[in-house]
Amino acid sequence: STSGGVDRYEITQREAALEILPGVRTPMWTYNGTFPGPTIEARRGRPITVTHRNELPVPTVVHLHGGRNTPSSDGYPTDLVLPNGWPDPAHTMHGMRGMHDPRAVVTRLTRDYTFPMDQRPTLLWYHDHRMDFTAPAIWRGLAGLQFVRDDAEESLGLPAGRRELPLVIADRAFDDHGHLHYPALDPTLRKQPGVREAYVAGVLGDVILVNGAPWPMHEVDAARYRLRILNASNARHYELEAVTDDGRRLDLVQVGADQGLLAAPATHRSLPIAPAERYDVVIDFSSVPVGNRVRIVNRLGSGRTRDVMAFRVARKAADGSRIPRVLSNDVPAWRRSDAARVRDFSFRAGRMHGGHGWLIGGRPFDPARTDVTVPLGDVEVWRLIADVHHPVHLHLVGFRVLSRSGKQPLPHDAGLKDTVSLRPGESAEIITRFDGYRGRYLFHCHNAEHEDMGMMANLEII
Ligand code: C2O
Ligand code: CU
Ligand code: CU
Repeated sequence: STSGGVDRYEITQREAALEILPGVRTPMWTYNGTFPGPTIEARRGRPITVTHRNELPVPTVVHLHGGRNTPSSDGYPTDLVLPNGWPDPAHTMHGMRGMHDPRAVVTRLTRDYTFPMDQRPTLLWYHDHRMDFTAPAIWRGLAGLQFVRDDAEESLGLPAGRRELPLVIADRAFDDHGHLHYPALDPTLRKQPGVREAYVAGVLGDVILVNGAPWPMHEVDAARYRLRILNASNARHYELEAVTDDGRRLDLVQVGADQGLLAAPATHRSLPIAPAERYDVVIDFSSVPVGNRVRIVNRLGSGRTRDVMAFRVARKAADGSRIPRVLSNDVPAWRRSDAARVRDFSFRAGRMHGGHGWLIGGRPFDPARTDVTVPLGDVEVWRLIADVHHPVHLHLVGFRVLSRSGKQPLPHDAGLKDTVSLRPGESAEIITRFDGYRGRYLFHCHNAEHEDMGMMANLEII
């Protein structure tokens, strides 16, 4: 609905039993009873308010990933929405470090999140962000898409309508009853050999879901399609390629990154995509004979996790779409010499509360501590160093990748990003201007288990 120039959405967070695997009902936590949740369509510069109502049995927090908004709507991990009947947060809450965060703004039952949508058109996603419990909440289904669009992008002539497909890729594991299987939450499993280690590394599933369906097959015209790809997996990395029945690899023409259109298209043979990253990619099916398939394969998977989905070319069809050689002219071109300062952050394993943790700069997340203070408007270069794979995400700002291990960035690092995938042993430099809003934001690893095990830090923009 619309009132006073603000578009309003209402989302109820509730339990629902969904048919994910054929013929079985899987109990999930949902936004409005679906997985993924409802897709929100926003126009650039047109503010929206989303009222979330929490009918789940636990507190929740909603974060719009990639959104540029005030801290009060950013879904800070202690800004809880308590379910009705949940004890006052002043009472003891098991497992919730940070309940003594003096800045937490806790509401009961509902909360309004307001987004100015004053940002480049792109694909965002919203998901749960509760302190220490983000990974199991996303795993159970709390994730959905939000598009930002504008006239300029729509006038480019990229494939649109039926030929623009969001692809939310997420792996999950199921038990014999079709229930989602999350090792760390299952006391019987927790004791089995290897389960603890698997949780620490990040939880993987052996079923690949695309838009909530296992290994789907989608019928397409022999024409160009624009795929808006999100890796919504907790921990799984993909390197996607498009393979025809006769063994050819179709080009993946990247037109956009996490934070919107590239300056110019970039053609890839395969495309790595880490948790939380989005890629905006055009595939041309016109060279594929009618009746043949194009499989989307994960080169990093094995056995059944190698397959992601398939397209079946169903018919010949006219195609009025195009991929312009210039896509946008507003990708910021910050230079090293613009930076007011350079900071270093290590992303490494370490000890936390006597157990295994994942640490930034040697420290686990603490809501009561400010880790980084940046004056509004400053440009900074951050040097990030990783031990194992860590997809590093900054709230509020988009950034550019300047280098990887002292060399040029990789071809898929182009454009404006909000998540950069650090490979094992790698260091990367990113550059951004911290503009937009003052207040408390986060940066963290988007391996959701790493995030819950401490790999998150506070960023205060003053
Ligand atoms: Cu996708 Cu801090 O979030
Ligand atoms: Cu985010
Ligand atoms: Cu990590």
